[in-house]
Amino acid sequence: MAQYDVIIIGSGPGGYVSAIRCAQLGLKTAIVEGRETLGGTCLNVGCIPSKALLHATHMLHEAEHNFAAMGLKGKSPSVDWKGMLEYKDNVIGQNTGGVEFLMKKNKIDWLKGWGSIPEAGKVKVGDEVHETKNIVIASGSEASSLPGIEIDEKVVVTSTGALELNSVPKKLVVIGAGVIGLELGSVYSRLGAEVQVIEFLDAITPGMDAEVSKQFQKMLTKQGLKFTLGAAVQGVTVKNKKATVTYKLRKDDSEHTLDADTVLVATGRKPYTDGLGLEALGVEMSERGQIKTDAHYATNVKGIYAIGDCIAGPMLAHKAEDEGMAVAEGIAGQKPHVNYDVIPGVIYTHPEVANVGKTEEQLKEEGRAYKVGKFSFMGNGRAKANFAGDGFVKILADKTTDRILGAHIIGPMAGDLIHEICVAMEFGAAAEDLARTCHAHPTYSEAVREAALACGDGPIHM
Ligand code: NAI
Repeated sequence: MAQYDVIIIGSGPGGYVSAIRCAQLGLKTAIVEGRETLGGTCLNVGCIPSKALLHATHMLHEAEHNFAAMGLKGKSPSVDWKGMLEYKDNVIGQNTGGVEFLMKKNKIDWLKGWGSIPEAGKVKVGDEVHETKNIVIASGSEASSLPGIEIDEKVVVTSTGALELNSVPKKLVVIGAGVIGLELGSVYSRLGAEVQVIEFLDAITPGMDAEVSKQFQKMLTKQGLKFTLGAAVQGVTVKNKKATVTYKLRKDDSEHTLDADTVLVATGRKPYTDGLGLEALGVEMSERGQIKTDAHYATNVKGIYAIGDCIAGPMLAHKAEDEGMAVAEGIAGQKPHVNYDVIPGVIYTHPEVANVGKTEEQLKEEGRAYKVGKFSFMGNGRAKANFAGDGFVKILADKTTDRILGAHIIGPMAGDLIHEICVAMEFGAAAEDLARTCHAHPTYSEAVREAALACGDGPIHM
């Protein structure tokens, strides 16, 4: 008799959510985690700590730039960097402790250590081999670097090192204008660092709706971040704790250098499957190192499933969570479904940027007839009161049926606002459905309604 119905390897958002769902469905469940604390990259060195630093530095920015205009006079707070890191660590502790509590509450065993799979139906942790009917691999991802760059997590850092620098650097070079580069670049820029972002492509945040991307770059530039686009980084050298970054401009192949106290390498992440023993098991992998799965998250080896960052799709905690629930429900005999057309993406800068569904560029490429409803936060009373009038909501809807195909928001609380559009899309709503829904005044969400109105007879406040 197997000891467990399911053993999940990895306790990030994909793994721990899956474990809870398994337990709720009556499956005897264990979770394997080698870190000291549960929660994976997201809770320990990713989403949560970066949001703590983004929040603290945003407060500082507000004090420095907007307090006086609201009649709040006096000296802006000074930065106690050690104190800020302590606050961040405290937030991590509360969150990882919360997951540990949830494991106990749901009677899920935590098998402490790094797991491997000697054969289907068995998971080895330390010297012990545990038997299980099903295995779910939720081992996540790790930062990927570039040739010619050695990460030391002191001077040349990934997001992990960037969350615990000894001090705020004077000059920070960020390689990659993606989500990590812009979130952490914002943190250090607000703390007074000179931040230079080098991006290979000709626009920041590749894949984002181009209109939003352009506006976003303008706003970040206004905040003090500098951008060099169309630049391929060749390498980084470190001497006496100072770094020199060499890059080539793609337009003319000219070579340039930049000095920095710290270099953040934020050029993407890759699946982390080291030490699991997948090769010996014959688990099929893609060329990009992702575990291949079918629509039910099953690998080609019976009884072994995989979810989250280590399989195909966007590397997002909430995508992993949805897959975690779905794989559990599938193992329990249900017929779950994850709607990959409605997975929101959020960048937690200020203002926030959020998107769901198709971009305008994608619709053009597909040759689809669409209409655009746009509304600026300048026309939103609440935003004006809060110095948050920069940005807009853009809804893309089918020209004939009015069905919402995508939405892009840059502005206050964009990461929260996007979800009413997600729900609408999940229900196959038309823009008119949103437009006819009463929205409380004065709220930022009125801007969403106005964008929906703009898909029809027109917005009211513009
Ligand atoms: P990313 O894929 O978002 O961005 C990487 C950037 O680096 C791209 O713009 C790319 O063109 C650029 N790049 C690649 N090679 C380069 C080179 N040689 N020189 C200059 N630029 C180069 O990756 P990122 O920001 O590292 O994030 C990794 C993953 O983590 C992403 O999948 C992201 O979605 C996820 N994440 C999500 C967050 C959120 O949802 N708020 C927060 C942080 C990470």
